[in-house]
Amino acid sequence: MTRLVMFSTKPYDRRGFDAEVEGRPIEIEYLETRLDVHTVSLAAGAFAVCVFVNDDVSAPVLEALAAGGTFVVALRCAGFNNVDLDAARRLGIQVVRVPSYSPNAVAEHTIALMLSLNRHIHRAHNRVRDRNFALDGLVGFDMAGKTAAVIGTGKIGMIVARLLWHLRCEVIAVDPFHDEHLTELGVEYVELDEALQRAHIVTLNCPLTDETHHLIDERSISEMRRGAMLVNTGRGALVDTSAVLAALKTGHIGSLALDVYEEEGDLFFEDRSAEIIDDDVFALLLTMPNVLITAHQAFLTTEALAAIAETTIDNVLAIVDGSDSAHHV
Ligand code: NAI
Repeated sequence: MTRLVMFSTKPYDRRGFDAEVEGRPIEIEYLETRLDVHTVSLAAGAFAVCVFVNDDVSAPVLEALAAGGTFVVALRCAGFNNVDLDAARRLGIQVVRVPSYSPNAVAEHTIALMLSLNRHIHRAHNRVRDRNFALDGLVGFDMAGKTAAVIGTGKIGMIVARLLWHLRCEVIAVDPFHDEHLTELGVEYVELDEALQRAHIVTLNCPLTDETHHLIDERSISEMRRGAMLVNTGRGALVDTSAVLAALKTGHIGSLALDVYEEEGDLFFEDRSAEIIDDDVFALLLTMPNVLITAHQAFLTTEALAAIAETTIDNVLAIVDGSDSAHHV
């Protein structure tokens, strides 16, 4: 039996993984705690650890994993910005991920945020529950005819672009690689500054890399059309949140939807309703009527969870079997 220790486990993870491992030569030890230098010893002796987006897979953690006899870090997500890949290579630890589980899930959530924010659905719902049927303050805009810029047209961004096209937006895109199906639809690829200047809606669907860190900062915001909507379901650090907050205050950014946040590691995935949030930027965002935040749930569909479990277990067992079918980072 291969032993896999899973960090940051939630009940919805367990359901997918329990179903997946039934009858297979692998046993999972589920831990609720996050992986970091303090908790890494819990994995001692395990062939593999399974981690999520906010687990700390930095060099010191990898060194402790290697010392404890762990050979595989299995990410149950697509992004791998939280892993020190150089250290993993040096230590001979293999890093695998789930390159694609349900790009539809993330793309659909991106559009859900956009439409909800535009038409104030979250505020309208609260009003109606309070028997406040006034409409003042709930004016949105027609999506049809608006220019929407998709930054990153990979697996997720490509679907976002298509959905926006179906909403009859003028879709423009930024990506070093041009998707020919999108260009056939009439999507125009432009440089980032031009996209920001033209777009009423900007959606970030690229990975977080050294190059894309703070892609949206004070300088790039100054290129944006006044009053534009910014949507980020990619990774938090794609935007300089303080710069975005300043632009929301002046109205330069008209509205903001986030599923990811730069400092989410200390906030998301837990019930903090009885705590004081010691993050002034985040706390201010929560007070704004034109800001809509979900806590990294774009991936959270039944289909995506099942696909994540399947690929993760296949990845680990492929390495055990010496097959080359694992999805290495
Ligand atoms: P992908 O690898 O299929 O596509 C990424 C695209 O971004 C590629 O076409 C790439 O050329 C492009 N890109 C890279 N650098 C760029 C730049 N500087 N400007 C413009 N485009 C650039 O990745 P996929 O599956 O579409 O995922 C995108 C990101 O979405 C992931 O890296 C991850 O961070 C995020 N994500 C968020 C989830 C959530 O629950 N909120 C769930 C899954 C992914």
